[in-house]
Amino acid sequence: MPKESLTITDNRTGKQYELPVSNGAIRAMDLRQIKSGPDDFGLLAYDPGFFNTAACNSKITYIDGDKGILEYRGYPIEQLAERSTFLEVAWLLINGELPNKKQLDAWVTDVTMHTMVHENIKKFLEGFRYDAHPMGILAGTVSALSTFYPDAADIFNSRSREIQICRLIAKMPTLSAMSYRHSVGMPYALPDNQLSYTENFLNMLWKVTEVTYKPNPILAKALDMLFILHADHEQNCSTTAMRCVGSSQVDPFSAVAAAAVALHGPLHGGANEAVLKMLAQIGSKENVPAFIKEVKSGKDLLMGFGHRVYKNYDPRATIIKRMAEQVFDVTGRNPLLDIALELERIALQDDYFVSRKLYPNVDFYSGLIYQAMGFPPSMFTVLFAIPRTAGWVAQWLELLEDKEQKIARPRQIYLGPKRRDYVPAERRA
Ligand code: SDX
Repeated sequence: MPKESLTITDNRTGKQYELPVSNGAIRAMDLRQIKSGPDDFGLLAYDPGFFNTAACNSKITYIDGDKGILEYRGYPIEQLAERSTFLEVAWLLINGELPNKKQLDAWVTDVTMHTMVHENIKKFLEGFRYDAHPMGILAGTVSALSTFYPDAADIFNSRSREIQICRLIAKMPTLSAMSYRHSVGMPYALPDNQLSYTENFLNMLWKVTEVTYKPNPILAKALDMLFILHADHEQNCSTTAMRCVGSSQVDPFSAVAAAAVALHGPLHGGANEAVLKMLAQIGSKENVPAFIKEVKSGKDLLMGFGHRVYKNYDPRATIIKRMAEQVFDVTGRNPLLDIALELERIALQDDYFVSRKLYPNVDFYSGLIYQAMGFPPSMFTVLFAIPRTAGWVAQWLELLEDKEQKIARPRQIYLGPKRRDYVPAERRA
């Protein structure tokens, strides 16, 4: 039986070291014993962007980037998207199992009863300019919630964690809808407890003077499916932010705010908004070859394409692309879809993209659906942050329950100046 270990020879000293291999990894700390001499600190692993570093053990989400597989707690994303609901998936991510009927009903009721926010939230929402980006408002307001729930700091109290998680899942749509209503100068619409999670979100966004908002069931279902697809994605940038900030033992509202601002970046969750800007900038199918040329010359990125893990089709993009037609049957076809399809057709035949294994990711088609539903591009990343809150809190819980985890504090390789003495200004060159 081959030994689960590596034998390393340090050619600087001729010494040999045996490093155990577990779950396909070595422990980075096992490198520290490898020293070039008595004063040597010991070997570090250098990995900018964490291309090859596992920061945690996790049982939440499994991705096989080469095969284009995505599973939440072992359930294929295709089955969950087709047959589950976002709140059921949120429960699955957080608790590890699908809820039984009693648990699901209680969970849905709990979330429904926590959708309202403190009236004071309106006061500081008014402080934002009318054209403030909704993600900036969302991050600010979700962080502020930590001041309304000081008990959230009691992170080792499991009952407190449960109520904060419920508040976060419940209030993200409310805060998001309020940030949108603020941007269009409309009064805030109260939650309607008779509606489902996404129906109520649409109610808080689009209700005008009617007594009761009647959400379109096809759009509500499509949004629920989009929320399922965006709920978690293992150790992506924003989840890493959630875990890093959470490792300092701050409350979950503050950690979610950090995750939200990480998600806002155009290389991450902000890509869905950037895709729409790119499609609008291209303008027509005829301009696609010229744009592709720009990308290949390194002057532009094909937003919505490429992924650190997926070197095959992002399974979420496949589902979203298929769903687009159902939404367009209700909303009317988004003309930008033709440009997106032409971009995909050309890119998937071009060696520049094929050789780099660049395929459409979750953000390539989602914005087209959101725009057809009536959302402005500035709301697209907000629509990513709402469902991803379920993943962020699930990963945060796993962090707290992992006895191996400590405060995140990476090392560095110092390449700066050696010690030198201070020189008064008058004597400097
Ligand atoms: C999300 O991590 C997750 O799980 C994230 C996410 C989630 O659910 O949480 O899946 C959500 O963030 C999806 C990704 C959304 N971002 C975009 O669509 C922005 C465009 N994509 C790229 O910026 C890029 O593909 C990344 C950031 C997504 C991944 O980049 P990597 O892994 O750091 O790889 P890289 O930038 O080093 O790219 C490798 C090569 C480079 O070319 P060379 O230097 O080898 O010549 O591919 C090129 C890059 O220039 N490249 C692209 C490209 N993406 C990579 N060239 C053109 N267009 C692109 N989109």
